[in-house]
Amino acid sequence: MSNQEKLADGKSGSYGLCLLDEDELYGIGSIETDAELKQRRHSGIKALFAEAQQDREAFWSAQAQCLDWFEPWNKVLQWDPPYAKWFLGGKLNACYNCLDRHMHTEIWKKNALVWEGEEGLERSLTYEELYKEVNKFSNVLKESGISKGDKVAIYLPMVPETVIAMLSCARVGAVHTVVFAGFSADALKDRILDADAKLLVTADGGWRKGRVIALKQTADMALESCPCIQKTIVVRRLNCEVVMQYGRDEWYDSLMEDAQEECPCEEMDAEDELYILYTSGTTGKPKGIVHTTGGYMVSVTATMRWVFDLQPCDIYWCTADVGWVTGHSYVVYGPLSNGVSQLIYEGAADFPQRDRFWQLIQKYRVTILYTAPTAIRMFMKWGDNWPQGCDLSSLRLLGSVGEPINPEAWMWYYTHIGCQRCPIVDTWWQTETGSIMIAPLAGFTALKPGSATQPLPGIDAVIMDEEGRQQSSGYLAITSPWPSMLRGIHKDSERYQQTYWKKWEGRYYFTGDGAKQDEDGDFWLSGRVDDVMNISGHRLGTMEVESALVDHQGVAEAAVIATAHAIKGQAIAAFVSLKEHTPFHADLEDELKQHVVKKIGAIARPERVIFISDLPKTRSGKIIRRLLRDIAEGRVTGDVTTLSDPSVMENIKKQYQED
Ligand code: WTA
Repeated sequence: MSNQEKLADGKSGSYGLCLLDEDELYGIGSIETDAELKQRRHSGIKALFAEAQQDREAFWSAQAQCLDWFEPWNKVLQWDPPYAKWFLGGKLNACYNCLDRHMHTEIWKKNALVWEGEEGLERSLTYEELYKEVNKFSNVLKESGISKGDKVAIYLPMVPETVIAMLSCARVGAVHTVVFAGFSADALKDRILDADAKLLVTADGGWRKGRVIALKQTADMALESCPCIQKTIVVRRLNCEVVMQYGRDEWYDSLMEDAQEECPCEEMDAEDELYILYTSGTTGKPKGIVHTTGGYMVSVTATMRWVFDLQPCDIYWCTADVGWVTGHSYVVYGPLSNGVSQLIYEGAADFPQRDRFWQLIQKYRVTILYTAPTAIRMFMKWGDNWPQGCDLSSLRLLGSVGEPINPEAWMWYYTHIGCQRCPIVDTWWQTETGSIMIAPLAGFTALKPGSATQPLPGIDAVIMDEEGRQQSSGYLAITSPWPSMLRGIHKDSERYQQTYWKKWEGRYYFTGDGAKQDEDGDFWLSGRVDDVMNISGHRLGTMEVESALVDHQGVAEAAVIATAHAIKGQAIAAFVSLKEHTPFHADLEDELKQHVVKKIGAIARPERVIFISDLPKTRSGKIIRRLLRDIAEGRVTGDVTTLSDPSVMENIKKQYQED
């Protein structure tokens, strides 16, 4: 089939994903050899680093040209530490950049989303089709009373409507707050209330590991105490019976049937809020991380292109759920603003069998896979025969995100999935950074299993000690503002300053991560240095889990630590003391685990609950988790002189070993 023919038939070939030869899209004129392409990428990246080094602001200003702006900015950066504003005076719309602008290029015919449900249902949407759906849903939002600046909560499984809902919010200038569908009713309620959301988009349910998840039912429980929600829009995913509350709940599909076809994009200021995403911190209350439009879109669009070395024919698959920041930046905004064709999958990796991921790669000819170390370790455990049985020859680049990747997992990924052909990009970043900060650039950076290597162009990262002196081992710090940096914590500027800027008196951003730098200047991340855990690549605060435990009527006190876990990276161990009159019974451990699931969600279920009579505390009553970690990791317990009662350690140790 010629390219012209392919163009005329967007749904042909491999799911209509590959439309044009590279040289036609790039307008190069002649087909380059592999070596020439590599050479061009190499010198392109070198120039990027050189430009960034010479003048960081001019560099980001040049990068901002990757977007379409309604009005140009008149100032690149205003830095009043710790508050940054980027591209001041610039006007744009994130949805316009993800959809409308592609309607004037050949991208409109490409598939934007190829979706597969867990039970095998398939659906694809070209950029044009996605554009139409988003226009309609934007009108639905407006008809429902949503206008610029309003907050919309989204509690959906991984279905195309999730992407449609997010983009529609951006289109009308509403601020979305996506809540991971695995979170409990309580967690959803807390987020809705903190964000003051007016509308909720949810579904009748979703599929997970062959089981139905009753999303609407959970949402209803949350909404019992959310007076701010005026309306709920329910996506029909399962077509199952749900209770619809008259006057509040409406079906997505019936609203879409009556919706007007065209909805103009709201002109947003570069610094207008795009979304709030909640993430765990060191207190019991999650933080609403605020991202704005211009800087965020510049960083995600540029980093997507650099890190994944995008080619027009790529079929990209990021396995993250849209409920996390990776889903925001590298499923929605980054890929779509670059006109990428991508696969999204709703379900589990082992349904119906343990080769589901590899079957999907084979079926859709995926070229780039972006996943998490915890998943890779799970695949390793399941055995090499699962990927071996599938054709993975379409893959050309692999990515990793969410936690440090251990060299063993790196090597397995490289050997068994990448067949020793595909480079691995280990990408370090955070909800707060909005976009990838440290990662190798394939074809340019020498890869090292276990190291995220070097900061990207325009990013100034160093390692510092407590006093703010540069060292080769210590805390990871970012020393200059970057476009997609968080603009604050929703309704809590005090916490923003305390958490990220207090350590070095407002001069540098504190990441909360420990790191080392080797003789080549490559970064090796070692994990969190604060009371934040990383369970299967998901951030959870120790205090959050402790609050959930003490919420149980029988619990007097609780201390939570993370212990090393072969698959999850870290697992939760909870040390619990009971109230004096609480009778101990054999089911209490399960009951407490279930209580945490109810309060937060299944990701927070403790691996172990250890019942103890007293927690190790200082004389002023502060729990010393460090000593509990020593016990869990079988180390000689450190300094116990500050303990109010040093004898408690012996009891805890005994209990931990017996349990
Ligand atoms: C950890 C996820 C080592 C880190 C994008 C960070 C990593 C936290 C890596 C952010 C990596 C993420 N190597 N550690 N490649 N990527 N982390 O906000 O501790 O869910 O602070 O963002 O995950 O988690 P978050």
